[in-house]
Amino acid sequence: ALAQEAVKIGLILPMTGPFASTGKQIDAAVKLFLAREGATHGGRKLEVILKDDAGNADATRRLAQELVVNEKVSVLAGFGLTPLAMATAQIATQAKVPEIVMAAATASITEASPYIVRTSFTLPQASEPMANWAAKNGIKKVFTVVTDYGPGIDAETSFANTFKEAGGTVESVRIPLRNPDFAPFLQRVSEAKPDALFVFVPSGVGAQFMKQFIERGLDKAGVKLIGTGDVVDDDILEGMGDVALGAITTHHYSAAHDSPANKAFVEAFQKANPGMRPNFMAVGGYDGMKLIAKALDATKGDASGDKLIAAMKGASWESVRGPVKIDPDTRDIIQNIYVRKTQKLGSELHNVEFETIKDVKDPVKARK
Ligand code: DHB
Repeated sequence: ALAQEAVKIGLILPMTGPFASTGKQIDAAVKLFLAREGATHGGRKLEVILKDDAGNADATRRLAQELVVNEKVSVLAGFGLTPLAMATAQIATQAKVPEIVMAAATASITEASPYIVRTSFTLPQASEPMANWAAKNGIKKVFTVVTDYGPGIDAETSFANTFKEAGGTVESVRIPLRNPDFAPFLQRVSEAKPDALFVFVPSGVGAQFMKQFIERGLDKAGVKLIGTGDVVDDDILEGMGDVALGAITTHHYSAAHDSPANKAFVEAFQKANPGMRPNFMAVGGYDGMKLIAKALDATKGDASGDKLIAAMKGASWESVRGPVKIDPDTRDIIQNIYVRKTQKLGSELHNVEFETIKDVKDPVKARK
C-alpha cells in the first residue's frame, strides 16, 4: 500500500507581493522538473502542494504547520527569503521533516535545523570570490551597498573581510529590505569616489538599483559596478537595458552558462514559460526537486525524514549550473562560482562567465 501512496511535498513560495518573481521562477522550475524527469521516483509518485506565503514569515510558519499536520507532507520546500526559511526550522526539527531551501541564502540557515538541506547558495560563497577578483584587478577602494538583513550582512561581511585581507579599504552602507530608496545611499557613495561599488540586493530588486546607480551618474564618475549575481538577475536583466553593461559579478548560475545541458534546460524552460528566462532561483528549485528524487531513489521510496536526510548528505549530480554536491557536514551545496561580465550576446543582455572557481564550499562553515 505504501508504494502506491504519493509522497507529498509542501512547496511554500512568495507567489504574490514584492518577491513574487522568486516564487514564479521556482514554481515554473518545479513543474519543469516533473515534466522532464518524471513524477515517479523510488517507485513513489511525487505530489507537490503549492502554497503562497506572500513573503511573510508568519504565513510561512502557519502554512508549514498545516502542511505537516493536515496534509502529512514528507518534505517542505521552497523558502524565497531568509526569514521564511528560519521561521520553519523548528517545525522541520520537531516533525523530522526535511526542509529543502531552494532560494534563501544566509549562511547560518542550515545551522537552524539538522533537517535543513540547501540547493541555492550562500552569500559568503559568492562574495569572497568577488573580493579576490577585485583585489587582483586593480580595485583598491570599495563602497559596499547591501540590503539590511541576513544575506546582505553576510555579503558585506564576507566581501569586506576578504578584501581588507588582500590590502583594500572598504566603507559600507545598508538599505532597508522593504520599500528601498537607494538615492540617499548612492549619494554617499558618489561623494566617497570609490574605485568600485559592491552591491547585494535580493532577486527582483536589481533593476531599481541599477536605474538609480545611473541616475546618480556613478557610472560616468568611473565607479565600477561589482557584486554577487543577484543584482543582474536573469529574470529582469533584459528589462534593465544597457545600464547593466559591464557589471562584474560572481555567482553560481547564469542562463548563459555554456553547456549542452544548460542550453536544453533554458530552451525547455522558455518553451513552457514564454517570455521568461530562468534565473538562479529556478535552478535552486529544479535541483531541489532533483535532490528529493535522488533521495527517494536511494531509500527505495522510504520517505521518512531521517532516511531522506541521510540519503541527501553527500548526494552529487551534474546540475545545469555545473557539478554539485551536498556537503555531508553542513547540508549546504558545494558548487562552482563563476566570475561573469554583463554583456550583449547577439541582441540580448547576458551574464557571460569568464572565470571559474571550482567546488566552492560555504567559506564561513569551512573555517569553523
Ligand atoms: C535571499 C533572497 C534573494 O532574493 C536572494 O537573491 C538572495 C538571498 C534571502 O533572503 O536569503
